[in-house]
Amino acid sequence: MRVRMLAAAALLLGVLNAAGAEEINLYTGRHYDGDQLLYDGFTKATGITVNVIQGKGDELLARLEAEGDASPADVYLTADAGNLWRAETAGVLQPIESEVLKTRIPEQYRDPGNQWFGFSRRARVIFVAKDAALPIAVETYEDLARPELKGKLCMRSGTAIYNLSLLGALIERLGAEQAEAWARGVVANLAKDPQGGDIDQLKAVAAGECAVTMANTYYFVRLLRSDKQEDKDAAAKLRVVFPNQATSGTHVNISGAGVAKYAPNKAGAVKFLEYLASDEAQGYFGLGNNEYPVAGGTSGNPELDGLGTFKADPVNVSVYGKNQPAAQEIMDKAGWK
Ligand SMILES: [Fe+2]
Repeated sequence: MRVRMLAAAALLLGVLNAAGAEEINLYTGRHYDGDQLLYDGFTKATGITVNVIQGKGDELLARLEAEGDASPADVYLTADAGNLWRAETAGVLQPIESEVLKTRIPEQYRDPGNQWFGFSRRARVIFVAKDAALPIAVETYEDLARPELKGKLCMRSGTAIYNLSLLGALIERLGAEQAEAWARGVVANLAKDPQGGDIDQLKAVAAGECAVTMANTYYFVRLLRSDKQEDKDAAAKLRVVFPNQATSGTHVNISGAGVAKYAPNKAGAVKFLEYLASDEAQGYFGLGNNEYPVAGGTSGNPELDGLGTFKADPVNVSVYGKNQPAAQEIMDKAGWK
């Protein structure tokens, strides 16, 4: 009887599908094919169906805002702490108290206000052409701004969230003035105007258009594991540098998620987040999208783990969002288009 009443209540709340199975609606800005493993794994573990609504992070966020309390979204999943901060600031998420999430996810990789949680990690690292004869050893983010590298850099746009978050971290560590000097130094060293995504930067270095760039680790591993020979050949021309190993540590960002403010199935949404923190799901992030787990241990992905271990910048990723307006202002002033 109690089960039937619960089922009826669930139906009223719109959390059951036409076949009578419990479901959650997931808005995801992640653009990785391997994520299907996460959804299938969750359904297998809980019996809850995942309806996937995929789009660009900014578009999904605008949709969440426009839908307001009528939104069917239960979970918002996206790449980059800077995007999660935008969602938090827009007021479309709600705080979640979960011992599982608090225990499994290190404090550094979740919102201090519990509105979002990181489930996978990526490092933003430097790639150097193996055959480049550079006047300096490039070992730090700071090196990218040194005048010896004039005309040697390719960089993605200064409006791209990955670069905004990186600059947000530099602002936290160096202060706005030094961070601006750094951005100006990088712009002065560009071989060409910023264009394309991280993969395009890696291919530009491999093709000899420039000698040095930055990209997220999973993009490089995607080239390493690609079925296309041209991708493997491009990766073979690059050397990975984990920056700032002797100093502040390498910049690390997350993919993460939060429960939508008006989630029709809040309980199911929390279960989904807790599943993402499980050993099984943590493994899928490694194999499916070449990302590091947040919950400790190795990724289980030989090519990714083959890049080596590294010291990560210990800053809480929530500062990337906090410093995002200042970072964008600096990018504009520095002419990092
Ligand atoms: Fe990406």
